[in-house]
Amino acid sequence: MANYPEFVQLNARNCTIIIRCKSATPEIIYYGQALSNTTSLHMLAHLSTRQEAKCAVVHEPPISLSPCLGDGFTGHPGITIDDGDIAWSVSPKLIEVEQSSQQSVVFTSIDAHRHIQIRHQLELDYESQVLACSSIITNLNSRLVTVVDLAAPTIALPDHINRIMAFEGRWSHEFQTRTLDLFLGAYVRENRKGKTSHDNFPGVIVHDEHTHEYHGECYGFHLGWSGNHRTRVELLPEQRTYVQMGELLGSGEVKLSLNERYASPTLYVSYSSSGLTPLSQQFHQFVRQHLLDSRFHSKPRPVHYNTWEGIYFNHDVDALKTLADKAALAGAERFVLDDGWFNGRRHDKAGLGDWQVDNSVYPDGLGPLIQHVVSKGMQFGIWFEPEMVNPDSELYRAHPDWVLSTQGNEQLNFRHQLVLDLTRKEVQEYLYEQIATVLNTYPDISYIKWDMNRDINHSGDKFGVSAVHKQTQQVYALIARIKRAHPNVEIESCSSGGARIDFGILQHTDRVWTSDSNDALDRLSIQRGYSFFLPSNLMGSHVGPRDCHITGRHIKIETRIAVAMFGHMGMEMDPRELSGHEMKTLQQGIALYKEKRHLIHSGDYFRINNDDISISFGIVSQDKAEGLFSYNSITETKRTQPKKYRFVGLDARKTYRLKLIWPTQLYEYSPSILSFINGECFTGEALMQMGMQLPIIFPQTSLVFSVNSE
Ligand code: GLA
Repeated sequence: MANYPEFVQLNARNCTIIIRCKSATPEIIYYGQALSNTTSLHMLAHLSTRQEAKCAVVHEPPISLSPCLGDGFTGHPGITIDDGDIAWSVSPKLIEVEQSSQQSVVFTSIDAHRHIQIRHQLELDYESQVLACSSIITNLNSRLVTVVDLAAPTIALPDHINRIMAFEGRWSHEFQTRTLDLFLGAYVRENRKGKTSHDNFPGVIVHDEHTHEYHGECYGFHLGWSGNHRTRVELLPEQRTYVQMGELLGSGEVKLSLNERYASPTLYVSYSSSGLTPLSQQFHQFVRQHLLDSRFHSKPRPVHYNTWEGIYFNHDVDALKTLADKAALAGAERFVLDDGWFNGRRHDKAGLGDWQVDNSVYPDGLGPLIQHVVSKGMQFGIWFEPEMVNPDSELYRAHPDWVLSTQGNEQLNFRHQLVLDLTRKEVQEYLYEQIATVLNTYPDISYIKWDMNRDINHSGDKFGVSAVHKQTQQVYALIARIKRAHPNVEIESCSSGGARIDFGILQHTDRVWTSDSNDALDRLSIQRGYSFFLPSNLMGSHVGPRDCHITGRHIKIETRIAVAMFGHMGMEMDPRELSGHEMKTLQQGIALYKEKRHLIHSGDYFRINNDDISISFGIVSQDKAEGLFSYNSITETKRTQPKKYRFVGLDARKTYRLKLIWPTQLYEYSPSILSFINGECFTGEALMQMGMQLPIIFPQTSLVFSVNSE
């Protein structure tokens, strides 16, 4: 007879999770606000007693951490395996509960009939309240078992949850949010792009109709994985709801022989009883404290200059030196040489895979450019796209068999490149050697922008087996190996902008390229969507060209700067084209970023409710002594006067000096509130409860205010 408690309770600062083990399948029966000691677990169990419904099973199978067909569960199974025999109807039963603390538990269950073990690991971070959990399956028998599907632990939800906040997107327009009603049946998002993807960010938030930024219950879910994935939010006919996320495995991709195991990616869950902004702050805190390399994040994030939208493939040493001069003059602290420096890469049709410096462009190698950049006081970074190869390359001509493909099927053309099969040892070795050689030859390279610019449409390895799972693991392994050998090199995750941003890749990288769009207006909604799960200190955010290369939109430099400064700021344009006014404004904007970046990167992020014509947010230091607030008008106001700006996140009792710190000059139709309010003191409660009348300004203008407690 197995010996385990009837209930397991996990506690964080403000939340409690209770898992019932009674039916030998651990099931979350409560996940919500912290409960006091006077509430007993039996009370909760009693309160959740259900009865036999008409034309229904007498006892509903629980929505356990892995509900199974073998339990009679008729929602989506948490485990689907195949051994050509009876494994499909697996139904593991709990045999052991190891609870090492109030934040950590491991459940072990076994299907003794089918010789399958399943472990569920749950770790609730006390401070951030983020739950990190995964499922691990082990084959205990000698016959081969195919893992068709193993979701991370399934999270049963309370029944007042009735809204789904979905994340959508496309290239250059990532992280768009859309809210829909929960409906009978399943909301399912499946990603088969072979990378995290632009369109299916592996995250979802569920809440009820009363929830907004600062009120109400909500749950955020994010799968930390950079390959294929599935998200499911399902309302069952008997009024039970759950969220289930996991890797979307290809056919036959994971096969387990005796004692082999497969672990689902980690699912990260955050719960808030006080709205969406606190939910996001919890994720931010977790990422900063637990996923990122603190060596880099405790230091100021240097201002980037990136060459891509400045010169694209037109590399020329003298021109690049001029760009470096101008970038340094503007205030850049890191110069990133983007695509185009290696053999044959004069356009996007050739060269990927041949990671040797192109001597026709760099006759003396990269040394002279690097020395020049360093002499200007900047760090040097370089672009790689290691996982890819152009058919027009020496690498492909020598090893046409090194790519992922599916037998007998023609490869779809996608930016003239194919995906290398990183599951092959020789490919791993080749890529490691190529990258290491560049880093060893030029020890001043301290930064890599690691790109990945096509979907994996043909994911077969050399055996013809689908390989996205192993490929994703091997990408992590390759980055980790490079980092081990070059611990001072920081790495940015880029994938045609933001198609590889997730908590999996963040365990190996230090910054993300949020989007290829440098259009400040589009960026406002992209960065807003990003903020639901991810903190600003990693968010690559550049001042782009005057006329955006992607949208054609003309946006003034002041607005471009105001939007870029709230992430990890950089610039990406041809600085030779800057007017005197633009260069001066850029210098001022970068100086302001440098002055405020400690706050931007460590403060709490507060979204301010959207009104469709503006996007606003604030960042407040944790001691609430200082804050920055951003108001960005997008279109003309609907009425002749705009609404008030209601500050958030301040200490109601503190007195703050309010200043408009950006832009340095502002066109106003008539003298506004700013002419006498600027530099005055107000209590936090006045700023938050009364709010400040906004001035009438042109659309596409951004205002940045600072508040400092007296
Ligand atoms: C991708 C990236 C860009 C740039 C180009 C270079 O699109 O997102 O920032 O690096 O590749 O080819």
